[in-house]
Amino acid sequence: MAGGFGSPPPGGRICVVGAGFMGCVIATLYARHGYKVVICDTQFAMLDSYAERARPIAASFSDDGAEVEVMLSRVSTEPSLANAVAGAFMVHEAVQEVLETKQAVFEELDRLCPPDVVLATNTSSFLISRIAERVSARERVVGIHYITPGHIIPVIEIIHGNFTPPDLIEWVRAFIRSIDHVGVACPERPGFLINKIQFAMLTEIYRLIDEGLASRDDIDAAVRLSLGPRLALWGPLLTEDLIVSKKTALAVTDSLYEQTGDENYRGRKALRDLVEQGNLGVMTGQGWYKFEGDQNQTIRERDRQLTALLEWLSAADAAGRLNVR
Ligand SMILES: NC(=O)c1ccc[n+]([C@@H]2O[C@H](COP(=O)([O-])OP(=O)(O)OC[C@H]3O[C@@H](n4cnc5c(N)ncnc54)[C@H](O)[C@@H]3O)[C@@H](O)[C@H]2O)c1
Repeated sequence: MAGGFGSPPPGGRICVVGAGFMGCVIATLYARHGYKVVICDTQFAMLDSYAERARPIAASFSDDGAEVEVMLSRVSTEPSLANAVAGAFMVHEAVQEVLETKQAVFEELDRLCPPDVVLATNTSSFLISRIAERVSARERVVGIHYITPGHIIPVIEIIHGNFTPPDLIEWVRAFIRSIDHVGVACPERPGFLINKIQFAMLTEIYRLIDEGLASRDDIDAAVRLSLGPRLALWGPLLTEDLIVSKKTALAVTDSLYEQTGDENYRGRKALRDLVEQGNLGVMTGQGWYKFEGDQNQTIRERDRQLTALLEWLSAADAAGRLNVR
């Protein structure tokens, strides 16, 4: 591979810096997939309690007690960062979300690790260019951002800067595949990809509540029983292709814009282009996606999937195990 990162070596050694909530999850997940992990923390108590905190996570992967012990045995604890990074092909930093702390850790990692070692951060909010400010070769710094609960949610964000070589992004994708997760790449910017989308919805919801326009229960029911199942099955763009003509989608955004004057609603170029090209969705055989075969068959399959998921959700509802009021 160009750029000198090689391929993620199966069973190789990874150092996780920070044995808190996320470090514990990340280390256990890597161990589950055969990697040898050294976890490092400045607090001895966090290292001492690591196995106890990791056991339930490992147990969520397997009912077999022996397998759980194998996973735990692949992780060792180490207070010295210099010792912890020795022989690692990647370091994954998961110290608390304090910029100065992260910058200091990366400065130290830059000094300790050979240039072909990938330096990853689990930051939730900082730009990687800021975290890498004191790193001499920032090309090897990348964000690998887990979504809580990280051992269950299959998507991981790969945050890159304009200085990140494309082959490092592909390297990280391959690494993430090796732990049975899916990597989604996005350039560094506030909110990355998932929070940017998530908070677009949440800020509207907070506003509805502040203005007394909708109740908590109605908001949750509205999202859970309409947007939620469709988004879970197909994501926002395929959902749009499957349920509405692009002409209608554009007309709705234009109408919202006219009524509110809010620039966020103004129909975007990509949507207008599809309308102009006549690529309106499943009914024309092309929208964001290209549809092959019989469209009626696609619609029947759409409805079958949705019905099956709603039945599952209804059964989960009936079980009512979350104990909330
Ligand atoms: N908690 C979440 O749900 C979540 C989700 C996604 C991402 N993140 C991100 O993951 C990172 C870690 O979050 P957390 O919730 O696990 O934090 P945490 O406070 O539980 O753990 C941080 C750990 O880092 C250790 N630490 C501090 N400085 C250190 C150093 N110089 N060397 C080694 N260890 C050091 C601390 O002792 C502590 O044990 C943060 O950047 C956070 O934003 C958290």
